[in-house]
Amino acid sequence: MADTVTITDNRTGKTFTIPIENETIKATDLRQIKVKDDDFGLMTYDPAFMNTASCKSKITFIDGDKGILEYRGYPIDQLAEKCSYLDVAYLVINGELPDAAQSKTWQTNITHHTFVHENIRKLMDGFQYDSHPMGVLISTLGAMSTFYPTAKNIFDETERKLTMNRLIAKVPTLAAYAYRHRMGLPYVYPDNDLSYSGNFLSMMFKMAELKYQPNKDIERALDVLFILHADHEQNCSTSAMRSIGSSQVDPYSAAAGAAAALYGPLHGGANEAVLRMLDEIGSLANVPAFIKDVKEGKGEKRLMGFGHRVYKNYDPRAKIIKKMADQVFAMTARNPKLDIALELERIALQDDYFVKRKLYPNVDFYSGLIYQALKFPTDMFPVLFAIPRMSGWLAQWQEMLLDGDQKIARPRQIYLGARGRKVP
Ligand code: CMC
Repeated sequence: MADTVTITDNRTGKTFTIPIENETIKATDLRQIKVKDDDFGLMTYDPAFMNTASCKSKITFIDGDKGILEYRGYPIDQLAEKCSYLDVAYLVINGELPDAAQSKTWQTNITHHTFVHENIRKLMDGFQYDSHPMGVLISTLGAMSTFYPTAKNIFDETERKLTMNRLIAKVPTLAAYAYRHRMGLPYVYPDNDLSYSGNFLSMMFKMAELKYQPNKDIERALDVLFILHADHEQNCSTSAMRSIGSSQVDPYSAAAGAAAALYGPLHGGANEAVLRMLDEIGSLANVPAFIKDVKEGKGEKRLMGFGHRVYKNYDPRAKIIKKMADQVFAMTARNPKLDIALELERIALQDDYFVKRKLYPNVDFYSGLIYQALKFPTDMFPVLFAIPRMSGWLAQWQEMLLDGDQKIARPRQIYLGARGRKVP
């Protein structure tokens, strides 16, 4: 069986044989299909990239129908059970899990870049007292490029590694500062004795105590949530990171753009939107009416935390989070909104509307309930997504930079507007 497809252009009767590689044809191979020699040639039209691969990648594998997610070939449930977030970040970026010595060096490198320049702190002070922390994070990520101008030497491997370390190390500091500013609390400097997640909890919640000691179970729960969010192949924010990075801008600026893409309610802002939705529903009795409104499309309502472009099955991350919720609620008070969420899921999974469209809970459906039980305010939820996603963005950015097939991202359009008009 030949790995080709034969296309007949019925406008001209000509046939074309196009190679198939990895179940894919190259869109540029279609350009030879034209009526006249000076025609541009055939293009594909694919708004929202529903069926277009924009890259080859070796980082994250998803089988959406089977509900499988693997980083560098390792199933997500095994990584969540056996690894720390920092080791998973190393894996996502370098392709292999670190051995004990590599893990120690990596942890030391990250730990020693957690402080941010004092002027970043002053910059934070300029924001309104009630600024959304995600807006503050986006702005300060971008501002960091002005503190590290050599980061634009993206083809210098040493510089690139240093910048990647800095971004992974400093994103929790920026995130915690954004929260402290929002609460009117003094900023807490990083504590290098603590783990990545433990230090983040310290910078968020330390008050008058001399040394903050994170609760070990909460620290581990947060670390697992970080593992689940580390990468998710070509999602909206990652393709923003690749696309912006393809202009060869420094990675701080590209990461600010990626974080902006993550902020939206259809992407990383969904965890915040789920909690607001559960608040709006208010009680178990109101669940059926809410589902009815969603199905009728009333007020453009969606069941937030449900559905996914790729998963047409239960999101494997949601499965792990749902299990984790019980462990977390055993340490904290049980979140009363859990009952509303469980009832929403129960009804939706039996309802024809959701079944037909293969809409299942995604990672964001239960994560917000856990974040809330861990005492994070709702507007911090997208920020909690951005912290671990930084490793995925950077891994994908570096893969793009070193991929000889890649160039500056520049889609085509189908122009349907007016032409050649005269200005009166
Ligand atoms: N509630 C109700 N109906 C839905 C939902 C939902 N959450 N999601 C999809 N649908 C319907 C949609 O109306 C459409 O119906 P029809 O065929 O009758 O027009 C059908 O299902 C297909 O939806 P779509 O919008 O074409 O699917 P998409 O692949 O473009 O969108 C999505 C994927 C995640 C944006 C969407 O499912 C959604 O808006 N979900 C809610 C927001 C959410 O939870 N986002 C977090 C995603 S997971 C975290 C991350 O990686 O960002």
